Amino acid sequence: MTAYCKIGGLFIYILFFLVQHGIGKECTQIKKHGQYSCEGRNLTYIPTSLPSSVKILDFSFNFLPTLKRSVFPQLNDLQHLDLTRCHIHHIADDAFLNMKNLTTLILTGNPVSYFGPDSLNVLHKLHRLVLMDSGLYSLNIRFNNLTKLQELNIGTNNIQSMALPPFMIHFEDFNLLDLHANNISILKVNDTNILQQMKGNLTLILSRNPILHIEPGAFQNMYLRELNIRNAFASLDAQRDGLKALSGLNVGKLVIGNYIENFMLKTSDGDLNGLCLINFEEIDSLCAGWSASELQCIVNATKISIERGNVRAIENVPFQGVKELRIVANIPVSLELSHLETLETLVAIQTNYIYIVGISDMPRLQHIDLSQNRVHITDCCENYFKRMPNIRSLNLSNNGNIYLSNNPFSGLSSLEVLDFHQTTLKGLATKFELFKKLQNLKYLDISYTDFTFWSTVSFGSLNRLKVLKMAGNHFQEDALSYLFENLTSVEYIDISNCEIDSIAWRTFKDLPRLQQLLLNQNRLMVLDFVTHPNLKDLRLLEVHTNNIASIPLNILQNLPKNLTVLDLSFNPIDCSCSQINFILWITSHQQIFPKKNNILCKSQSLGSRHKTIDFDVESCERIRRFTIVTSICAVVLLVLASFLAYRFQFYLRYGYILLKGYRTSRQQEWSYDAFVIYSSKDECWVMDELVENLENGIPPIHLCLHVRDFEAGKAITSNIIDEGIMGSRKIIVVVSKHFTDSSWCRFEFEVAQSWLVTQGNPNIIIIILEDVEEEKTKKVFGLHKHLKKNTYLKWSSNPINNTRFWIRLRKAVIT
Ligand SMILES: *[C@@H]1O[C@H](CO)[C@@H](O)[C@H](O)[C@H]1NC(C)=O
Ligand SMILES: *[C@@H]1O[C@H](CO)[C@@H](O)[C@H](O)[C@H]1NC(C)=O
Ligand SMILES: *[C@@H]1O[C@H](CO)[C@@H](O)[C@H](O)[C@H]1NC(C)=O
Ligand SMILES: *[C@@H]1O[C@H](CO)[C@@H](O)[C@H](O)[C@H]1NC(C)=O
Ligand SMILES: *[C@@H]1O[C@H](CO)[C@@H](O)[C@H](O)[C@H]1NC(C)=O
Ligand SMILES: *[C@@H]1O[C@H](CO)[C@@H](O)[C@H](O)[C@H]1NC(C)=O
Ligand SMILES: *[C@@H]1O[C@H](CO)[C@@H](O)[C@H](O)[C@H]1NC(C)=O
Ligand SMILES: *[C@@H]1O[C@H](CO)[C@@H](O)[C@H](O)[C@H]1NC(C)=O
Ligand SMILES: *[C@@H]1O[C@H](CO)[C@@H](O)[C@H](O)[C@H]1NC(C)=O
Ligand SMILES: *[C@@H]1O[C@H](CO)[C@@H](O)[C@H](O)[C@H]1NC(C)=O
Repeated sequence: MTAYCKIGGLFIYILFFLVQHGIGKECTQIKKHGQYSCEGRNLTYIPTSLPSSVKILDFSFNFLPTLKRSVFPQLNDLQHLDLTRCHIHHIADDAFLNMKNLTTLILTGNPVSYFGPDSLNVLHKLHRLVLMDSGLYSLNIRFNNLTKLQELNIGTNNIQSMALPPFMIHFEDFNLLDLHANNISILKVNDTNILQQMKGNLTLILSRNPILHIEPGAFQNMYLRELNIRNAFASLDAQRDGLKALSGLNVGKLVIGNYIENFMLKTSDGDLNGLCLINFEEIDSLCAGWSASELQCIVNATKISIERGNVRAIENVPFQGVKELRIVANIPVSLELSHLETLETLVAIQTNYIYIVGISDMPRLQHIDLSQNRVHITDCCENYFKRMPNIRSLNLSNNGNIYLSNNPFSGLSSLEVLDFHQTTLKGLATKFELFKKLQNLKYLDISYTDFTFWSTVSFGSLNRLKVLKMAGNHFQEDALSYLFENLTSVEYIDISNCEIDSIAWRTFKDLPRLQQLLLNQNRLMVLDFVTHPNLKDLRLLEVHTNNIASIPLNILQNLPKNLTVLDLSFNPIDCSCSQINFILWITSHQQIFPKKNNILCKSQSLGSRHKTIDFDVESCERIRRFTIVTSICAVVLLVLASFLAYRFQFYLRYGYILLKGYRTSRQQEWSYDAFVIYSSKDECWVMDELVENLENGIPPIHLCLHVRDFEAGKAITSNIIDEGIMGSRKIIVVVSKHFTDSSWCRFEFEVAQSWLVTQGNPNIIIIILEDVEEEKTKKVFGLHKHLKKNTYLKWSSNPINNTRFWIRLRKAVIT
């Protein structure tokens, strides 16, 4: 026994040691398929516990001053390695030999002072190399063998020239050069030689450099997919000249402007005129102070984004073919946009208030996003978006009040996506079939719209709807039970935070495609409705923060077969042994709970609530066993008690009698002078001698004899106590051999003795009828002692002695 204990203790100690020194601090698996994170654990080595099948490894924020082959185990499958800020100074030639299949290597934030000449070159499959913030002064590193390279990020260094090494001409898939936040001030014609020859589909990021001068012609006839020159110039003059020097560039998307607000707004007219010399399709400007003449340079753009800056100026631009217009303003704006016949997408967000005149009559317009504007709309929506039959998505979320007209969506029957969330919906229409005619609607978000569902037909015609988000609203009476009847295509419903107490069994009966159901933050106590046979496709059920204390076994067994996610967090789970089946079910199905550590037991006290999965199931077993054992003990004791009671009933009765006698008042009239205790075998002597001499003498003595004076029909014991002992002044005991043999006599004597002791007067007169052996007198409790201590009368057949005997006896009885 003690040996086992010692081994167990040692085992626990080893476990504790391991947890303290390593395993606990090492890497965690993020996803099933080989993604691990060892981020920020200050590790100085790659843990051996890491499986060699790891594909993605985040090893950032650790401590690996010298990278060499021995640091890494053989990791054939590793594709993505993040070594951000690992204090790497020295990268040995063989550093990456054990992971030749790497496609992404991130070395951000390491003060590398030495690169082994061929250290990177072994990574033939590398697609992406990130050397941000590595203290580089130039691209003087050998990576000529990385012909599969697509992205090179060398932002936030001290590089002064954007010239690429000649060998990069052969990098045929190369498409991203990120040089942001370097120290490039001059761009020479020769610097773009390699880029020019890359026949590019290239994104070039030069933002946040202090460019002073660009040699004209540097970008002549070059094609770039995207050029980012936001905040890339040392001054406004440099920018004006720089833009002109970009003359002849063809670029898909041009990103310009400034992060610092108002910096560009102060420009004199014409600072952006250089844009007219650049061919671009798409322009994304931030805080640019567009003047009328500058805006002429963007008339041919198809995608225009103007974030802050002079937004109103676009009103008068004769756009040729703009398809997408995105306006982000931080000031109230009123815009006249009726001329944009080609427009397909209009996004106007984050303005403090926007009023757009003529948002109607744009026949090609399909997508409208007016979210986050604090806008109020009266008479929505068919009058506000007039004659625009092709609108497919409308986002009016995060606005003020929207008053719906009586038939709000007539003329908008192409709508597929409608988003009103966090906007207050008002108007009578909310009481009727609100979304009538929207047969094409697939996505509807009316979460937190302060909407009360009165009508059960609100969604009557939405039989193509797939996603319904309606959290944070209210239901009138049982509207909820009938609301979803025609939503036969719906796959996702969110009815969280709607103060729902209960859900009827029929509620989801017409939704055979429902896959995700969110019912968080309600007041549900039972989940029987999810076992409806039509809900067979349900995969996800979220019911966190409800009032669920337990789920009966029959519901757990009938949950939809495909249910793989069940969020039960923050319910007041009843962790008592009576719910042991439910708790066992939770512990054995942990994989379906996304946040199993948040499934907490309802606590009796206000102290910390503990996790349901930590519930000590064995304690229930112990309690059960204890209950069984105590029950068995109780039964055994009962049986034993019954047996003893049966076996010793005589004594019990005796005790009872004593007790009863003791309780009865002693101020009682005596019916007899003496009660005679004798064996019936001595009856002849009693009748012939005792009765004869005492009762017939003068004065007569009234004796109580059981044969004569006991009441018929009364228990003998009661007679003994009532008639005999209590009803008589004295007790005469006739001791003989028969007396000592008779259990009744013994009993009577003992009762009499005890009674008299409790009463305090030892009025027992003993007559020894014949000599009895001492052994036998000892058998009668108290008799032997009594004989020794008190005088007794002895009978003899001698008549002379008899006379004295009777005189003495008479005297003893009378006194
Ligand atoms: C990380 O490890 C290094 C060296 O092992 C040590 O100097 C440093 O104090 C550690 N940092 C933390 C936060 O533990
Ligand atoms: C690269 O991965 C392939 C399988 O994807 C494997 O056969 C090969 O051994 C790996 N090469 C190296 C050098 O790890
Ligand atoms: C780089 O490529 C050359 C030519 O293909 C080859 O000889 C050399 O071994 C390669 N270097 C490394 C480190 O793989
Ligand atoms: C940036 O380059 C200039 C020369 O072009 C140099 O004088 C300056 O020190 C550099 N700045 C930094 C931070 O390296
Ligand atoms: C530009 O590069 C060519 C060769 O690529 C070289 O001959 C010429 O001298 C360079 N010009 C300047 C001004 O550096
Ligand atoms: C350019 O690259 C983008 C994204 O990498 C790709 O979608 C596009 O088709 C490419 N265009 C050409 C002309 O290669
Ligand atoms: C816009 O396109 C028209 C014709 O396609 C062309 O004449 C005009 O120069 C272009 N404007 C700009 C600023 O590129
Ligand atoms: C509507 O806009 C909001 C905020 O601008 C955004 O979060 C939401 O995803 C958009 N809705 C749709 C359906 O795209
Ligand atoms: C539900 O759809 C059926 C047939 O598609 C239609 O007859 C019924 O009116 C619809 N219910 C409501 C409330 O519109
Ligand atoms: C469960 O899901 C699978 C696909 O994920 C689907 O093929 C199957 O029909 C679903 N089972 C039921 C009962 O709907």
